Amino acid sequence: MAKGILQLKRVGGGMNKLILAIETSCDETSVAVVRDGEILSNVVFSQLDLHKAYGGVVPSIARVAHENKINEVLKEALEVANVALNQVTHIAVTQGPGLAIALEVGIRKAKELAAEYKLPLLGVNHMAGHLYSALDLKNADWEFPALGLLVSGGHTEILVLEDLYSIRKVGQTLDDACGEAFDKFATMLGLEYPGGPQISKLAGQSRSQLDIRLERDQQTLFVKGYAAGDEDLKYQLPIPMANSGDLNMSYSGLKTAAKQLINELSGVSHKLDIKQTGRAGKLNEEQIGELCVMFEEAALRTLVLKLEAALKQFPAQELLLGGGVAASPRLRDLIAEFATKSQVRFYVAPDRVLLTDNAGMIGLAATVALRQLEEQGKISENIARLYNFNEFEEMDRIPGWDL
Ligand code: KG4
Ligand code: ZN
Repeated sequence: MAKGILQLKRVGGGMNKLILAIETSCDETSVAVVRDGEILSNVVFSQLDLHKAYGGVVPSIARVAHENKINEVLKEALEVANVALNQVTHIAVTQGPGLAIALEVGIRKAKELAAEYKLPLLGVNHMAGHLYSALDLKNADWEFPALGLLVSGGHTEILVLEDLYSIRKVGQTLDDACGEAFDKFATMLGLEYPGGPQISKLAGQSRSQLDIRLERDQQTLFVKGYAAGDEDLKYQLPIPMANSGDLNMSYSGLKTAAKQLINELSGVSHKLDIKQTGRAGKLNEEQIGELCVMFEEAALRTLVLKLEAALKQFPAQELLLGGGVAASPRLRDLIAEFATKSQVRFYVAPDRVLLTDNAGMIGLAATVALRQLEEQGKISENIARLYNFNEFEEMDRIPGWDL
């Protein structure tokens, strides 16, 4: 009880929200309980093993797995939080963007619970969840304007926040998302899906073998990998969109260059199917590790260059990082270095669980939405939408949304 009173004081007037949040937008079934910005439980069931064999998420398999798991995950989330459903004050659910048939499972469960307990329902933007995962809502000492960088398997975007509630997208990938590019490159190397974490691990182990430099040849900025302690250039890959003059990103050129590099190293004709190369093909472990260093560096450096350009256009005090790729230690190091140099404060969730898809971040975004409602009498459309318990059917008419 005493704990609850303390929290009420910290977050200021009117807060006493116990939110049950549900996330089923892709291949994680997750339920969380969030009280006044504090995550009491955040249970995530990952379907990874079910999709691995297909090299990507299969929507129909995701849907069935969400249906099979949602009740168990819900029960566990309530137990861990030591909360009963009749204590909950709001239901929050990811409304989009995501896989429609996967989202539906969470939305149906959320409506069912909200109807049974006569609770208001918040349809939350998944990307707002990734964004607010960076902020500790219990200890608000951040300042605005702020920049946001969201890097996941489905999105790569740069945001400007004028205040906690006003989010504007100012840059995005024109093709693959950064995480998706990592996953595709990993497939080229014959690594298992999802490749991001594996590339990260292999790159970490092999980084000391290479001396990495950024060098410009005519118009193109390259990541060049020299043999450590040597002047021998072993590999080079272009940093995407380095000269585009805008805040957008693209990974198709890097993917093509990486594919050519793999083919050259393995002595395979450019016309052959890339799946014939890699671990199962003619590259050795050392080459695979070093290629991971190269690709990771090129894919992440483009993000830092774009952030640098964004900061020139939109002076900011803070930088928020979110999304699955934020689990990359290399990305965190590069951004921390950039933040120090640029004198912006850098925030990222301390817990890895909050970076990849999870319901805790949806509960945090719902907390922000309710706070905005109290302060301003409205909720920004790109954060969440609020439905009273007799208005749920309207949810079906909203397609997924984007910022
Ligand atoms: O945010 P998330 O869980 O799902 C989406 O909403 O898309 O992000 C998953 C993505 C995958 O593409 C995965 O390969 C990537 O995040 N990822 C990483 C790392 N850990 C996860 N990418 C690079 N380095 C990592 N350590
Ligand atoms: Zn996500």
